[in-house]
Amino acid sequence: MASVSSTSFVTCVLFLLLLHSSSIFHNLCAAKHGAATNRHNRHHHHHTQNPPLNPRLYRAFLALQAWKRVIYSDPRNFTQNWVGPSVCNYSGVYCTRALDDTKVTVVAGIDLNFGDIAGFLPNELGLLSDLALLHLNSNRFCGILPMSLSNLTLLYELDLSNNRFVGSFPSVVLSLPTLHYLDIRYNEFEGPLPPQLFNKTFDAIFLNNNRFTSSIPASLGQSSASVIVFANNKFGGCLPESIVNFADTLEELVLINTSLSGCLPQQVGFLYKLRVLDVSFNKLVGPIPYSLAGLSHLEQLNLGHNMLSGAVPMGVCELPNLNNFTFSYNFFCEEEGICQNLTSKNIVFDDRRNCLPEKPLQRSPKECNAVLEHPVDCFELCCVGGVSSGSVAIPPAALTPIGMPVSSPITAPPYP
Ligand SMILES: *[C@@H]1O[C@H](CO)[C@@H](O)[C@H](O)[C@H]1NC(C)=O
Ligand SMILES: *[C@@H]1O[C@H](CO)[C@@H](O)[C@H](O)[C@H]1NC(C)=O
Ligand SMILES: *[C@@H]1O[C@H](CO)[C@@H](O)[C@H](O)[C@H]1NC(C)=O
Ligand SMILES: *[C@@H]1O[C@H](CO)[C@@H](O)[C@H](O)[C@H]1NC(C)=O
Ligand SMILES: *[C@@H]1O[C@H](CO)[C@@H](O)[C@H](O)[C@H]1NC(C)=O
Ligand SMILES: *[C@@H]1O[C@H](CO)[C@@H](O)[C@H](O)[C@H]1NC(C)=O
Ligand SMILES: *[C@@H]1O[C@H](CO)[C@@H](O)[C@H](O)[C@H]1NC(C)=O
Repeated sequence: MASVSSTSFVTCVLFLLLLHSSSIFHNLCAAKHGAATNRHNRHHHHHTQNPPLNPRLYRAFLALQAWKRVIYSDPRNFTQNWVGPSVCNYSGVYCTRALDDTKVTVVAGIDLNFGDIAGFLPNELGLLSDLALLHLNSNRFCGILPMSLSNLTLLYELDLSNNRFVGSFPSVVLSLPTLHYLDIRYNEFEGPLPPQLFNKTFDAIFLNNNRFTSSIPASLGQSSASVIVFANNKFGGCLPESIVNFADTLEELVLINTSLSGCLPQQVGFLYKLRVLDVSFNKLVGPIPYSLAGLSHLEQLNLGHNMLSGAVPMGVCELPNLNNFTFSYNFFCEEEGICQNLTSKNIVFDDRRNCLPEKPLQRSPKECNAVLEHPVDCFELCCVGGVSSGSVAIPPAALTPIGMPVSSPITAPPYP
């Protein structure tokens, strides 16, 4: 019977694994043996739909079994069928033809989104070197990312959002040559961002709701990102003028509640493709740079909950695509021209809690005077302090996966 022979095949592979668990070399011997056994099975049982277990699928099998061993809770039974060598039949595992050899089936995607799974990422995930997508959104994975992930040289999308990952920025992602989409929001990563982050070919970078500190690195390279969401971190420091390096691609810049201080640099106005700019809930001071009047694609502008002052410039209110302009909870004392009547332009706006003499719901004169008596000189407020702390390199020691539970008998060789 097919079931009997496939059971004995599994037993055989597991036996070989137990026998030769000390090195990948031996595991690959087992893979060859396994593949041979499988061909034998297919010959006699044509109705079996297992793809032949090629060495790449076999490595995926090792990786997924190692992963399953460090999954401690799986309330939705995602991994219940992660049994036996047919990895392409596992829930959340997607196979396709290899890019470099269309005759070979490989594991190209893993999607465990909304699994509520608790566990961690073992070193063996480095064996999934054909992976293009790894989606682990909304689980309870904890610990740090293994350095062996640098083996996933085809990885295009990495979504680790809404988990319990900790430690410094997972620098291993910087070694992934084809990564375009990086989403690590809603975790507990901490410390500074590595400057190299902005030197990558990422299209989208979501870092919001972590515990990143220091400042946004000023040593920005030529980034290709179109969406950057850093909200709800404790960066501090200023928005670096080098943000202008994003001009050719950046469409959404969301820096809500990131402890930004200082003035908004003129260079923000050179990000000519911006559609969304949100710097609300920070400690920004000084005027709105007039250069913002050049953002002809801008649809949403939120400057609310800062300490900005001066006049709201007419050029900004006249932006052709602006449909929502929030500047409440600042210290603006004048709205130029059409800014006084944004309703007439069908722009949703919020100008409450400023120092606008003609408008309702403003701050008290006492509150306004206390701030407006001390005008801000943006040329004197420089960001040098923030820059230097932002470019602190992450020490290599911080990248070593120390203190991870070691419960897997298969130990991948240390990555060179
Ligand atoms: C998961 O499997 C267990 C045991 O087979 C079962 O009791 C439980 O109802 C399953 N949960 C779901 C969400 O299917
Ligand atoms: C894999 O899934 C296919 C389609 O659902 C099924 O026909 C086949 O029997 C499965 N193979 C194994 C080994 O479970
Ligand atoms: C990296 O992938 C190769 C196959 O592409 C594999 O032989 C090797 O064991 C993997 N390394 C790690 C550290 O997983
Ligand atoms: C960014 O890349 C450029 C060239 O590719 C290199 O000269 C520069 O040192 C890199 N910067 C960082 C911070 O890695
Ligand atoms: C701002 O972020 C901090 C964490 O950095 C969080 O505790 C706080 O609730 C956030 N404030 C707002 C207004 O969202
Ligand atoms: C306008 O923007 C504010 C701040 O981002 C937001 O709270 C509000 O819901 C937006 N209104 C509309 C109609 O989009
Ligand atoms: C705003 O403009 C509209 C028409 O464009 C006009 O009816 C309204 O009176 C104006 N409101 C103020 C306060 O000027």
